[in-house]
Amino acid sequence: MFTNGVLRAVLCAVLTLELLVSPTLGAGSGFSLPIKRRSWHHRSRPHKRVNARVFEAKYYKHELGALMVKYRHAADILKGVGLNPEQDLSKYFPFVAGAVPVDESSLDSPIGQAATESSLVTPILLTSGTATMPLQDLIYNGIDILYYGPLNIGTPPQKLTVDVDTGSSDLWVPSGCEFCSNTQFNKKASSTYSSEGTEFQIYYGSGDVTATKAKDVVSLEQLSIKDQGFGAVTRESDEFNGSPNSGLLGLAFGSIAASKQTPFFERLIMDKQLAAPMFSVHLTRNQEFGSQICFGCYDKTKTTGGARWVPVISKTYWAVAMDSICVNSTMAAGDDVIAAIDTGTTLIYLPDDMTSRFYGLIPGATTAFEYGQGFYKYPCDAVFSIALTFGGQSFTMNVEDFNLGRTEDNSKYCVGGILSLGTGFPSYLAIIGDEFLKSWYSTFDYTHGARVGFSPSINNV
Ligand SMILES: *[C@@H]1O[C@H](CO)[C@@H](O)[C@H](O)[C@H]1NC(C)=O
Repeated sequence: MFTNGVLRAVLCAVLTLELLVSPTLGAGSGFSLPIKRRSWHHRSRPHKRVNARVFEAKYYKHELGALMVKYRHAADILKGVGLNPEQDLSKYFPFVAGAVPVDESSLDSPIGQAATESSLVTPILLTSGTATMPLQDLIYNGIDILYYGPLNIGTPPQKLTVDVDTGSSDLWVPSGCEFCSNTQFNKKASSTYSSEGTEFQIYYGSGDVTATKAKDVVSLEQLSIKDQGFGAVTRESDEFNGSPNSGLLGLAFGSIAASKQTPFFERLIMDKQLAAPMFSVHLTRNQEFGSQICFGCYDKTKTTGGARWVPVISKTYWAVAMDSICVNSTMAAGDDVIAAIDTGTTLIYLPDDMTSRFYGLIPGATTAFEYGQGFYKYPCDAVFSIALTFGGQSFTMNVEDFNLGRTEDNSKYCVGGILSLGTGFPSYLAIIGDEFLKSWYSTFDYTHGARVGFSPSINNV
């Protein structure tokens, strides 16, 4: 136990230092940032400097409550109870169609080695078997709240926007929903729409919806499934009505689909439409435009180095083993923690004991019960690095994303973006949201028994 602890502490130190360097690699290699800045738009303006921002608890309290709903079956799910039958997707590999999206050998970056210039992946050509979904970043008080992009449904295609969520597995859009204020899918206008008429309930991080099981053509550029199952939502809770997106695209495994329908991405795999059974996510920081998902591909222009791979340990959520969280080179260990990599969640949530150990490493940090259970504050002028360790590999994150703002104007305390999940969640569950993923371009790969790859994001340059 003692020896193990020491070894892990060393791992934390070595990899943290080395990773602190890696985001600058490739900085001089001339990648351009394809970000459309629309300065006339209020949300595109640079936000108030992080240190001037004042924390507003409302949104985060809501997210914490809503996660309790979204992850309410997590204990059973992670034990393998009540799952939909698993699809053996590996029988559809390897793919033959289209361009080779990545040079696998160069994509891998061995443990403990920084990606070098020569290990950068070959750029993919956006030809057959891949599609890019541009994402829009909803920014509120300088915080990137959610990312959503366009998806075509029906014949002729109707373009609707969906929140992209690797923490759930259903696709749904509002349709015939009396009290929904977002853009809806007009099923009467689609010649290919069909409905089973059965209703199901979906619970999400941001509320819950009642949907009718439906089928129609769903497409993204040339990728298309002619009878994709989805939920035609007839009632949604208020939380969704305030969102700019219409619906949600679940990108986790079909094993946890509430609708029991095979997810869009898994259908694309089974139909061998993809150049590779993977999708990669680039999330911008405080930029309304420029985020994207690359379906069937890895877009090297969004990274400054190769991917480090972490095996998926439960094909439900994109669940990986989380060893520890480091402040500078000191580690706060977790107890067999399972982390869900969740693009549909804004912040980072850890088990109670791990969270208190983590804040214990920041001098002056205390709980901030004034905002409710789970919140912590720390001295705004504290200097430290944060790294999360998954599957024995350590990943530093930008501490600017961790700072949610001062408790009040001129307060010397800031609220931390790592919250404790508290009771109501399995004691070993962590949820890793956009706050972390802005530092790491993430690749969700169905090969090698399923794995998540993290490549240093161009956001860090
Ligand atoms: C982290 O390291 C930096 C640089 O060495 C140092 O200034 C800072 O005090 C350390 N912070 C903590 C919390 O240990």
